[in-house]
Amino acid sequence: MMNLLLRGIAFLKGVTLLLKPHLYLGWLRFPTLMFSNVLSLSKWISNQNKTGILNDFYSPTRDYSKRYKLYQYVLEKYNLKQEALDYLEFGVCGGFSFKWWLENAQNPESHFFGFDTFEGLPENWGTFKKGDMSADIPVTGDFRAEFVKGLFQESVPVFLDKYNLNNGRRKIIHLDADLFSSTIYTLTRLAPYLKKGDILIFDEFNVPNHEFYAYKIFTESYYVKTKLIAAVNNYFQVAFEME
Ligand SMILES: C[S@@+](CC[C@H](N)C(=O)[O-])C[C@H]1O[C@@H](n2cnc3c(N)ncnc32)[C@H](O)[C@@H]1O
Repeated sequence: MMNLLLRGIAFLKGVTLLLKPHLYLGWLRFPTLMFSNVLSLSKWISNQNKTGILNDFYSPTRDYSKRYKLYQYVLEKYNLKQEALDYLEFGVCGGFSFKWWLENAQNPESHFFGFDTFEGLPENWGTFKKGDMSADIPVTGDFRAEFVKGLFQESVPVFLDKYNLNNGRRKIIHLDADLFSSTIYTLTRLAPYLKKGDILIFDEFNVPNHEFYAYKIFTESYYVKTKLIAAVNNYFQVAFEME
């Protein structure tokens, strides 16, 4: 009986693929993925701690400058001002968040790496088009800062061959590349180096088909455990500690 059922399912699957349903139902891919990810995001949010941490959910308005409040909260909670750390930012653009960390994490032994094409987004993202957000490489005048120009998919492997990320320092990994592809690539590439106490910051976390989806797939596929430590703008900007 079971055998017959399995053969029936295999037959139906074959016929479905033969009929090329993408030709007339392909338009459903985006809304159904979005719907599925909104449900996952809603479930994820309902499981989060809203007391005893910085968390403004629910806020009726979005104030992008609140992200600096989140950085300050993380800096103070972990005493990062004087700790020698590795700060890696993926998606630097004009360098606003990068410069905040450079100015506020003051240990002279800290290293700051900023990765970006500096030629803008490699793909369309929502209303933004490929090439939007291009910027000049920021000038900092701080010997601790280094910028790595290029697609993450090309620059990160070269960087990881040269720089020893297993150096015992805490890593602050700031994911601000907006795109699913860029975020999942970065997380999976850095997975072997992540250790307890490292901090992950996301800048557009609650976008269902992009950073949230990348985080979900990454944590579920690598069995990675993270603890939410701060969230602002209804989880638009979030910080996690690696467990
Ligand atoms: C929102 S901006 C970063 C904003 C910046 N952190 C700030 O505080 O103003 C996103 C950046 O990610 C970069 N980016 C996205 N995907 C990338 C990839 N795969 N490789 C390199 N850069 C990427 C884009 O070039 C863009 O400059």
